[in-house]
This record gives sequence, C-alpha cells and structure tokens, in this order.
Amino acid sequence: MRPSQASFPALRLRRTRKSAAIRALCQENALSMNDLIWPVFVVDGTNERQEIASMPGVERLSIDQVVKAAKEAHSLGIPAICIFPSTDPALKTECCSEAWSPDNLSNRAIAEIKQAVPEIAVMTDIALDPYNSNGHDGIVRDGIIVNDETIDVLVKMALAQAIAGADILGPSDMMDGRISAIRGALESEGHQDIAILSYSAKYASAFYGPFRDAVGASGALKGDKKTYQMNPANADEAMRLIQRDLAEGADMVMVKPGMPYLDICSRTKKEFGVPTFAYQVSGEYAMLMAAIQNGWLDGDAVIAESLMAFRRAGCDGVLTYFAPRIAKMLNG
Ligand code: PBG
Repeated sequence: MRPSQASFPALRLRRTRKSAAIRALCQENALSMNDLIWPVFVVDGTNERQEIASMPGVERLSIDQVVKAAKEAHSLGIPAICIFPSTDPALKTECCSEAWSPDNLSNRAIAEIKQAVPEIAVMTDIALDPYNSNGHDGIVRDGIIVNDETIDVLVKMALAQAIAGADILGPSDMMDGRISAIRGALESEGHQDIAILSYSAKYASAFYGPFRDAVGASGALKGDKKTYQMNPANADEAMRLIQRDLAEGADMVMVKPGMPYLDICSRTKKEFGVPTFAYQVSGEYAMLMAAIQNGWLDGDAVIAESLMAFRRAGCDGVLTYFAPRIAKMLNG
C-alpha cells in the first residue's frame, strides 16, 4: 500500500513536469544503446542487398555486407547482433540437416563477424524453420511436430553455432526440454561460457508474417505453430515456461512478440528478476513503418516511445529492427 498523498494544492504533480531540466531529473527510465540487439537477415552471395517488401528499410544482406553492418553496429555502440539466415530453398529438407552444417550460411556469418568485429556479441536463433521443407521449427512426422527427435538435432545445431563462435544462443523452437539438453551439451563440449537467451514465452502470433517473408518460410509453412508456440490468451503459462527454462540453465529470457505482450514482460521481471528481453517483431516493425511512411506518425518519436515502453515494463533490452536508427538518434 502507498502512503496517502498530499492533496491539491499542496500536491501539484505538474511541478515535476515544469521544465525540461526538472523532467529530466524526474525521469524514471532511460533507453540507451546498451539495450539493443539488432536482428539481421543473411543471404548467399557477395555484395548482395535485397529489399524485403513487407519490412521497408530492412534488407537481406550477403555475408560481406553483414560484416559491414556489424562494424557499423559496433561503432554505434550496439552490443549485439542476431543472425537469421534466408536459406536457399534447395537446401531445405525434412531432416533439416543444413541446420547443423558447420558451414551453413548462419555459421559462416557468425565466424566472419567474430573475425572482423570480435567485440560485438553474436546471437543466433535455434529452430529448424529456415532449413525445414515444412516450414516448421521442429521435425515433422505424420503431421506431428515431434519433440524429442527435434531436441537431438537442436543440440547439434547449437554446438555448430558454438563452434562457429556465437556468444549467445537463442532457442526459439518452443520444444520441451531443449534448454537442459543444449546446456548439457555445451558444458560437456567445453562451451561453458556461452550464454542461452531462451525464447521462453513465444506466442503463436500473427505478427511474424513479414519475418517469414524475409527468411523465405512463408510459402513453406504447412499448418500453424499452435502445438508448440503459446496461446495468446495465456499469461500464467508464460511464467511456468520462464521458470522451467531458468531451472534448465537459461541465462536470459525473452518475451515475443513485444508490444502486445508488455504485461508478460512486466510480470517476468517482477516475478523472476532475471535479464529479460522483448522481441519487437517484424509485424510490429511493419505496422510502425507503414504509418511512418504514410506520414501518419512521426517516425523518430514513435520509435523511441515504442522502445521506452519495453524499458518501463522492466525489459533489460529489446531485439529490434530499429536498432541502428535508434542508436543513431541516441548518439545525436
Ligand atoms: C523462428 C523465428 C521466428 C521469428 C524469430 N525466430 C518466426 C516464427 O516463429 O515463425 C520471428 C521474428 C519476427 O517476426 O521478427 N522460429
């Protein structure tokens, strides 16, 4: 319970909003470059930059261009970059073996970034959808996404990423038991210092549409992801998933999507007090950009406000396609 407040006129809450100086003193939360993880899409080729229609301003980049982007991110003060491969459809199979190939697109990108800009943290995504001819995050048998068999290959995928030089692994598949399996394999293979940022509370969301275009998974997906990603109606279940992933060895947790799930971010930080991240996903980016490009919203202001919301909700950081834009703003 709060102590009772003074009442008007002793209480005039506008006093702390009177000038920029006093507003600055009384500001409760702040956004900085340190809060940003920049997701980037990688494609084969050299000197290749492909626009993504549903994500204006975001491009698929060949590895040489991703390395340039990582250098730029580092010079802007962005601490981490997250790699998403747009895999050649010819390499997508039902067994998903490209996922753990040591020189798949993602692993080559990790190695080249770490070589060129060792200071930046490289995060990865662990899920089979970029490599699966079914478009699912797990192995599909007779129409069922099979949990335990998927875990075996996710572990191979995680180890390949660790060997390539990844700093933060991001299991986004939502299978049960994957965090302990990956953590156990990392420990026994000598990768005890690699962090796991688990996509613990990942919802079966309609906001991922543009991302699936970006990685070329839209056409491939058969059915939906509701047997593994969460029901958007649930909140207590998110807390159970987070508790479970932390108990299995996750170092950091994520809520995804972001803005429609700020209540989940807030509960996560309050109930667990652990490093908490939100993913401002492709559909959130697309919505804001559509309005900004129409001149309906003020871009810089609305982007900054959308990101501050995550800080207010208790997030330590945000995965956002706006990372370089907001970092430039913050750098003045
Ligand atoms: C892969 C994955 C997805 C996203 C991140 N990792 C798509 C999905 O689950 O279908 C979405 C990110 C975004 O929309 O920006 N499992």
